[in-house]
Amino acid sequence: EKGGYDHFMMKEIYEQPKAIRDTLGSRIKEETVDLTNEIGLNKEEINEIERIHFVACGTAYHAGLVGKYVIEDLARIPVECDVASEYRYRNPIITAKTLVIVVSQSGETADTLAALREAKRQGARVLAITNVVGSSVAREADDVMITWAGPEIAVASTKAYTSQLIAIYLLGAYFAQEKELKTAAEITTIISELKQLPEKVEEVLQQEETVKAFATSIAKHNNLFFLGRGLDNAVGLEGSLKLKELSYIHSEAYAAGELKHGTLALIEEGIPVIALATQPAIYDKMVSNVEEVKARGAHVLGLTTVGNNELEKTVDEVIYIPAVSDLLSPVITVIPLQLLAYYACLARGYDVDKPRNLAKSVTVE
Ligand code: F6R
Repeated sequence: EKGGYDHFMMKEIYEQPKAIRDTLGSRIKEETVDLTNEIGLNKEEINEIERIHFVACGTAYHAGLVGKYVIEDLARIPVECDVASEYRYRNPIITAKTLVIVVSQSGETADTLAALREAKRQGARVLAITNVVGSSVAREADDVMITWAGPEIAVASTKAYTSQLIAIYLLGAYFAQEKELKTAAEITTIISELKQLPEKVEEVLQQEETVKAFATSIAKHNNLFFLGRGLDNAVGLEGSLKLKELSYIHSEAYAAGELKHGTLALIEEGIPVIALATQPAIYDKMVSNVEEVKARGAHVLGLTTVGNNELEKTVDEVIYIPAVSDLLSPVITVIPLQLLAYYACLARGYDVDKPRNLAKSVTVE
């Protein structure tokens, strides 16, 4: 049942190229993104969307954080992203021109479902991105995009997250296309980049041994940091959650520029830092943040794109990830972080598929 792997989590990590392919599926043609069968909004209604709220929990919330960058960049609609258990109680501004996107692997998470109901009650249109056909979230939303990741058994979510990202890219590209914000040539480029992602994920999976060695080296630590800016910070939050839930090592994901406003005080000799630097526009800024932590004795694993040779001069180890367009990088960057959590868990002798205190589906509020 584990397909030759020791744990469901590893099987699911390796299923990601397929999950991405299946989620793209028939939604892309050569030159257009076609979501007309799934999304009832017509061109005019898409043009009228004034704001988008992503609402979700845990890993699905982290997909929404990436979604904020992606949708704002592609579709030029203001996006907010909230944890479902917070959204419900903060009196958010919801109108008939608000699109609420709930993201949930199981489609049964109590807080997400309650937020969906509240958003509908206040007149929003609700779109669900979920992995389970016929789940509560799928049944109650106005529109549904299924992520075709297949059943996810391990408590720690992996392939559901990457396929949620794919659904979000498709949605962003579709809105851009319908709003005529991108030329046909630009849409074709996005489509061809999306199609290349499964191969790029295969490539980064080959870095497993490097990640394993670093995971072993962090196993004796009780604290570490993930640093990154922009999309890298969003991915860092997911990497940090994965590491905490599996290895029980405390970690924090920090927006690298914010470090010197307090948290730098925690950087001391030997503390592991995982520095994510995949975004060209802020690459130099990341390098100087890494120098700041190195100067205080941190042991740094850098993650950067092939061809960026600056980082290796500063960090202790480096993992090169295949180049993809800036917006798509989270799909690739998260893979080594999933492997890191997996191997740190094994190195500490814990149960990968059943972390303590956690349930796969959280149906209490
Ligand atoms: C972490 C994890 C959880 C879930 C969260 C939401 O690895 O799996 O954080 O992402 O409980 O679950 P769904 O997506 O089913 O609503």
